[in-house]
Amino acid sequence: MKFYLKTYGCQMNVHDSEKIAGIFSEAGYGQTEGVKDADVIVLNTCSVRQKAEQKVYSDLGRLKPLKQKNPALKIAVAGCIAQQKGNNLFKRFPYVDFIFGPQNIDSLQKWINDQLSAVSGQSLGSEIRNPKSEIQITALRENPEYSLKTLPIKREGQVRAWVSIMHGCDNFCSYCVVPYTRGREKSRTSRDIYNEVQDIAGQGFKEITLLGQNVNSYGRKQDEKTVDTTRVRDFPDLLKVIHEVPGIERIRFVTSHPRDLSEKLIDCIRDLPKICEHMHLPIQAGSDKILNLMNRRYTYQQYKEKIGMLRTAIPDIAITTDIIAGFPGETDEEFNYTINALKEIEFDGIFAFKYSERPDTKALNLPEHVDEDIKAQRLSQVLELQASITYNKNKALEGKAVEILVEGVSETDKHRLTGRTMTNKIVNFHWNTENKSSNRSSSLIGRLIYVKILEAKQHSLYGKKI
Ligand code: 5AD
Ligand code: SF4
Repeated sequence: MKFYLKTYGCQMNVHDSEKIAGIFSEAGYGQTEGVKDADVIVLNTCSVRQKAEQKVYSDLGRLKPLKQKNPALKIAVAGCIAQQKGNNLFKRFPYVDFIFGPQNIDSLQKWINDQLSAVSGQSLGSEIRNPKSEIQITALRENPEYSLKTLPIKREGQVRAWVSIMHGCDNFCSYCVVPYTRGREKSRTSRDIYNEVQDIAGQGFKEITLLGQNVNSYGRKQDEKTVDTTRVRDFPDLLKVIHEVPGIERIRFVTSHPRDLSEKLIDCIRDLPKICEHMHLPIQAGSDKILNLMNRRYTYQQYKEKIGMLRTAIPDIAITTDIIAGFPGETDEEFNYTINALKEIEFDGIFAFKYSERPDTKALNLPEHVDEDIKAQRLSQVLELQASITYNKNKALEGKAVEILVEGVSETDKHRLTGRTMTNKIVNFHWNTENKSSNRSSSLIGRLIYVKILEAKQHSLYGKKI
């Protein structure tokens, strides 16, 4: 039996897919790269912006003939669209068999077991016997126990691993669908996280990225059952504990909310050598009026103060951000505040998006929505400005020696290896021009080495191993 899995959207979803793959593997399924030879197809979907949603619908549409040809094929929809659309998906895509949300990944185990037993003829459920009345199942309930579950994980790669430290989000930024799809914020216990990190280190991984919608509020929402016996109260405490795990060389985390970024955390990044000098701190907009309408709960001044604190404590820290262009009510003047913010702060990199209307969100009902072409114009202005800032920052590294963790062979050039600096900049390099033997190159994977930067590019750096 084979499963095909396609993932859309954020890092959280990518990691959820590792759990989905883990559950399939544990049940004895192999993974296939092509839909044609799959017995089960799972789309792990994203609904953060409309574009991602449209992509899923067109992919789902393309699965219809496959199912017609092979009625035994099972199709499941997971992730944020599954959670948000629920049963409505069955109306538009009647050939979908199973819909499960991000808090119900554990229910996949039971669903697979039911499928397996139906196929093998053991303990057939009477409903499953009749192919004409195929059952369609949803698993979309609030699942407060989810953060206590330990699911099998089939990890991608061999150097970097992801660890979710919390689920859900309570921030309700007015544009964002996540609090509705991923539910209330809930931290995992530090003991479970610690055990997982130890396990990852035991498997030979060298870098971990701690995942949460708002990692800085880790520990705030732990109910009776999740309070553990360790003295971990907040995110910096958690970092200190994880920092002790032998074998892990680097620790990263995403995402941080500017309001919850504490001095204690900044001290932690400064003092603990394994914590990478990189902070992804979404600003979203530079205008206080827009920030207020977005329900971000900080002003531009407050945001800048946090940047100042970070850069004073850790002068080489890289800071990246997210920008939304064309939020409702954003006039040319307001938009210019965002442009000024980019010029003033000089981020190392940004992710920028046109504002996209999302169901259920408060921003839908705001007045003065911005025309699509103005949004597009503003987005290109933001990207163009940032491209030159990023390039200049990369250029400043030319001639310098940087430490990188080698991740593997470069995707674009098989003769090069690729890795990242502490500051999360991608470095491609020749390991040794005289000796390109694959043995030598693979022995570098997973190691921290120094590379001299020879050339800055827009999205990466090129160098030579020292
Ligand atoms: N429209 C555009 N961008 C959005 N984001 C979240 N919701 C929306 C939306 N409705 C962006 C934010 C967030 C990032 C993950 O996605 O910038 O930080
Ligand atoms: Fe969405 Fe805001 Fe929560 Fe991030 S912090 S997931 S933008 S609601």
